[in-house]
Amino acid sequence: MISTAILAADFRAIGLTVGALTFVGFVLMFVRNIRSAKPELGSEIELAPNRKPYLTDEELEGPKLDRALTFALGMLALLAVGLPVYWLAEPGRQDGAVDAYNLSFEVRGANTYTVDAQCVNCHAAGGAGGGAAYVLQDADGQFLANVSWKAPALNNVLLRYSEDEVRYILNYGRPGSPMAAWGTPGGGPLTEQAVNNVIIYLRTLQVQSLDPLAIQEAGDPALDDDPESLAAQEAAETREAAIRAEVDRSIQDGEFQTVGEAVFNLGLVSGFEGGSLSCARCHTAGWSVGLDNVLEEGIEGCGGGNPSGIGFNLCGGRTKARFPDDTWKDSNGNWMPAGGLADNDGSYIESADGDKIRLDDTGVPVDADGERYLILDEGVSAPGIPDAGGDLASCDFVSKLWQPPTGDAYPFDPEITPALKTDGSGTFEDPPELTPADVGGQVITLGDGRLASQCDVVEMPERTSDAHYEFVYTGAVAGKGYGRGGQSAAGLMPGFGGSLPPDYIQAVIDYERGL
Ligand code: HEC
Ligand code: HEC
Repeated sequence: MISTAILAADFRAIGLTVGALTFVGFVLMFVRNIRSAKPELGSEIELAPNRKPYLTDEELEGPKLDRALTFALGMLALLAVGLPVYWLAEPGRQDGAVDAYNLSFEVRGANTYTVDAQCVNCHAAGGAGGGAAYVLQDADGQFLANVSWKAPALNNVLLRYSEDEVRYILNYGRPGSPMAAWGTPGGGPLTEQAVNNVIIYLRTLQVQSLDPLAIQEAGDPALDDDPESLAAQEAAETREAAIRAEVDRSIQDGEFQTVGEAVFNLGLVSGFEGGSLSCARCHTAGWSVGLDNVLEEGIEGCGGGNPSGIGFNLCGGRTKARFPDDTWKDSNGNWMPAGGLADNDGSYIESADGDKIRLDDTGVPVDADGERYLILDEGVSAPGIPDAGGDLASCDFVSKLWQPPTGDAYPFDPEITPALKTDGSGTFEDPPELTPADVGGQVITLGDGRLASQCDVVEMPERTSDAHYEFVYTGAVAGKGYGRGGQSAAGLMPGFGGSLPPDYIQAVIDYERGL
């Protein structure tokens, strides 16, 4: 888009220059001609008697010549001015052609949406979200109930998925749900072009993203008060207010206890935006067909997205295992920023040999040159320094306990029942402090104060579940792993950065980590 604009600007500048030069040339020639013109000499030849008098010199060299010359000049001007003007309009014509194509695709896509494929029956007009009639059956194919399966709003689908991901969903559908495979790759009736047309139509339906970057990019980022950015800002505020109002309402009406739970289940009872902003529709068994039907296990994020079969069971601490508190690299292998280190001044950790390993100000171990250890190839280790790229799982021993920092602490180790102090203060007894002698041999003190032995890791900075936040913000990317060992094949976990305000994302994450 931007490069087309630059191209057009260049194009225009060149054209205008050529046009101006031509015009000036014309004027100069005209003036010179007038100035060098001499008076007429007149005719001196007698006409022979057998000849018909032709036009007189006066006439020939007067009006006739003038007419011919004017005509030629006109044609010349037409060429000289017309060609550059034609050329000038060329970028506009290209854009126009693209627009015209898109418009016809859009019209065809709208037609597919409402008439041919009747997406509108389930997803509602304008993609506002709705429900799909569905017959629930048990494992033996016996009738259970007639239900309405929430059909997510599509007027925000491109905020949550890339167009390629939407194409994938359209091609293959959501097996086990009312959403059929529509594209030919999945055995459906729509050609590649028809699927593309629908996506182009969906573009026109999209609501404003809440992502500040998207809001800024709606206008000219160089301008402070660009009207389009302001309009986008306003639209985002309206949309955010509507989402907050729905969450508040659901809590007031007693549907949910906390903000996290309410966001996780957004739209369960009211069908808000077809449940498109909920997590539960993919992470809770039977959520999409409603409370009364198959939600035997309650509304927590357990049991995956059965019966649609999408999404993961997030209960039983699974999410924490995927994004441990001590996740220290994000899914791209970059170090995550540290939240501060518990057991030292934050500037070093200890290696196996008791060497002090320097940390940079984000808490990442660095060598003497200030280079991050991450640059070590996997399996290569500097003397006395454990490998980068390792995992705590490879340690022979990792204490579950934190060493007591100061005073009362700890409910953190689930295997230790906290004992109340006998002094009646109502605070907890510190658990016994572990020493290298307790675990034997080579011990490193981890950044959060735990001890580990026989590791081939560089310990990570303390607790960053930022990786969890980032995952929910951007969603799964096809073919790219996430968290610790998460494999994403199709990228079907949507990103919620454009659809949920940051505090809601954090609330839902806290909720998940407690499941
Ligand atoms: C019979 C009803 C029905 C029809 C017709 C239908 N869908 Fe769906 N669609 C659904 C349901 C239900 C879901 C949610 C499935 C689930 O729970 O995972 C869905 C999911 C989707 C999704 C994924 C959205 C998300 O946020 O997870 C997209 C995109 C989509 N449909 C687009 C379309 C398009 C485009 C058409 C028309 C070509 C269409 N659907 C036709 C019922 C339908
Ligand atoms: C349209 C379905 C869908 C929705 C809605 C959805 N997820 Fe997911 N989620 C998935 C899928 C699918 C995966 C598995 C990742 C993959 O393979 O792409 C996943 C994975 C996850 C994981 C990692 C689980 C693991 O053990 O690997 C977390 C955490 C998660 N989702 C949180 C959320 C949150 C929070 C929300 C709501 C804000 C949400 N999800 C909404 C489909 C969904």
